[in-house]
Amino acid sequence: MSLNLQELPPNPMELFNSWYDQAKSNPSILDPNKMCISTINKEGFPELRWVLMKYHDLEKIRFFTNTKSAKASQIELNNKIGVNFIFRYEDYFRQVRITGYADACDTKHADDYFATRSRGSQIGAWASNQSEKIYDRSTLDRQYNYYEDKFKDKTVPRPQDWSGYNIVPNKIEFWQSGKHRLHDRFVYERNQDQTSWVIYRISP
Ligand SMILES: Cc1cc2nc3c(=O)[nH]c(=O)nc-3n(C[C@H](O)[C@H](O)[C@H](O)COP(=O)(O)O)c2cc1C
Repeated sequence: MSLNLQELPPNPMELFNSWYDQAKSNPSILDPNKMCISTINKEGFPELRWVLMKYHDLEKIRFFTNTKSAKASQIELNNKIGVNFIFRYEDYFRQVRITGYADACDTKHADDYFATRSRGSQIGAWASNQSEKIYDRSTLDRQYNYYEDKFKDKTVPRPQDWSGYNIVPNKIEFWQSGKHRLHDRFVYERNQDQTSWVIYRISP
């Protein structure tokens, strides 16, 4: 099943949505919403880690995290971000590679999503100062117990330093494995009008 320029939609997020929906409906693909995101640290090195995409539409994708974490501090200094998804099927692979800009999402969206998390994960968000040094495991467990007690019989509110980021792509590459390593690769780049996209094929 090769990809053809004539069949590609004008908006890359339409293609992303259809690839993602296919991956989601395939039980052999674990966590199809996992994505590896790259930000640049103070020394200029790229740092990568996996996060979970929790929302996407035709404009953006969103993930949630601690807003004092290493990744969040890096985004604050430089909001250019790299994102990579992999969807692996029985007989072929797909990869989606994105560059774009990350910006804090509305607190309402963070509140709404936080409310859907399990109580344990909500308390965990209070207990962990993500990316900060801690002395030992029991320090973490103590903090968890402290907040479990503090919020006993109460709704757990969203911590101020836990929220989401929207990623708005400016370039997306769709890669699909092909026979003899002759993969299909199509790149979408935003035109200067910021609304339409130029699409071209690149060599594997
Ligand atoms: C599959 C997977 C999904 C993850 N999802 C998230 C996530 O949605 N949000 C998050 O903050 N960390 C998530 N993590 C943990 C991150 O990879 C990372 O360890 C953490 O966010 C701290 O990163 P930082 O120190 O670079 O800020 C996930 C890890 C894995 C392996």
